[in-house]
Amino acid sequence: MLTTPVALGAKSYEVLTGRGLLGECGERARAMFPGSGRCVVITDANVGPLYAGRVVASLAGAGIEAEVITVPAGEPSKSFEVLETVTRAMIRAGLDRKAFAVALGGGVIGDLAGFAASVFFRGIPVVQIPTTIVSVVDSSVGGKTGINTAEGKNLIGTFHQPRLVLIDPETLGSLPDREYREGFAEVIKHAAIRDAAMLDELEVLAGESGRDGLEALIARNVAIKAAIVSEDEFETKGLRALLNFGHTIGHGIEASAGYGEMLHGEAISLGIRAALRLSEEFAGLDAAVTRRLVRLLGMWRLPLVLPETIGTAAVLEKMGRDKKFDHGRLKFVLLRAAGDAFVSGEVTAAAAERAIEGLREAPGE
Ligand SMILES: NC(=O)c1ccc[n+]([C@@H]2O[C@H](COP(=O)([O-])OP(=O)(O)OC[C@H]3O[C@@H](n4cnc5c(N)ncnc54)[C@H](O)[C@@H]3O)[C@@H](O)[C@H]2O)c1
Repeated sequence: MLTTPVALGAKSYEVLTGRGLLGECGERARAMFPGSGRCVVITDANVGPLYAGRVVASLAGAGIEAEVITVPAGEPSKSFEVLETVTRAMIRAGLDRKAFAVALGGGVIGDLAGFAASVFFRGIPVVQIPTTIVSVVDSSVGGKTGINTAEGKNLIGTFHQPRLVLIDPETLGSLPDREYREGFAEVIKHAAIRDAAMLDELEVLAGESGRDGLEALIARNVAIKAAIVSEDEFETKGLRALLNFGHTIGHGIEASAGYGEMLHGEAISLGIRAALRLSEEFAGLDAAVTRRLVRLLGMWRLPLVLPETIGTAAVLEKMGRDKKFDHGRLKFVLLRAAGDAFVSGEVTAAAAERAIEGLREAPGE
């Protein structure tokens, strides 16, 4: 088992990565919450039937009664309506103030359950048990919670750090192929902004068909996220913003496609390609780095060409509503080199438009 600390003073916690951790969640929760006898396990309709039973049995073995709250799978569950359903179910579950919540699922469940835990009784602890690549390497660590509205994605939310994150790589075995691969957009993003050496590892892994041997890669990615979050918990120092590499245009594309149509990581793949072009234009990035990263995205069979059905104007309009615009100025995370990212205020709307248009063409070699 690998332990990655997230250093946040009194809010510090550990991320544990190891096969079989699902079956140990009861004893881990018991040690973390000695006075607690009750919790809720918030999950979705895909993950619940696969793993909630094991989690509930482990909790019961440690003397903790758990009520499972299951929401529909997918991005639409990050809504006020589902938040209301979940928090009211938490009231009916008879939780007391010593209770805690378990988020069992992908990033949707992590964001929704984290939000619900942060507002229920004005905040109860949450244990994150992420089950997708995105949630394992990114969303379960760092405490950002959120839901979507018609106006935009993740505009409503809280910061609520988990007390514990348990990653059992065995759960990744049941991910459908498309959902498995899309998560690697965030892994490639981590390599691009902070860990150029990981590119070699990802190039090797992309050629392999199995899902074994992921523990070290997961822990390496969690450590990147943990280091950034530790230094800039509330995204005020510009460091945490680096995690938005590929996300400004990516979110615009995701929203234009209609949430749920294009998977998050697929939109981010396109966003990364556009951000690489802008990095060449505004930060002097070597075109060879762009080619390498684009080739890597392709090796994971992530999309590189924007579908014709998604108009450039629509993407720009959705980007305008995105919180990553600071007082009307375009804020873009760019690369100077592989592993060296910064936030630029130089990118013009016209350049962003050209970068989106550039996604219509297949990348050359
Ligand atoms: N809070 C953050 O810091 C942060 C960071 C990145 C992304 N996010 C959010 O994460 C969300 C995307 O997360 P996601 O990609 O994990 O999506 P998701 O939670 O919708 O999961 C993808 C699909 O896989 C299914 N699934 C999950 N685990 C499974 C498993 N082990 N076996 C079989 N099926 C499984 C789910 O039911 C779902 O259908 C977005 O809403 C995004 O905004 C948040």
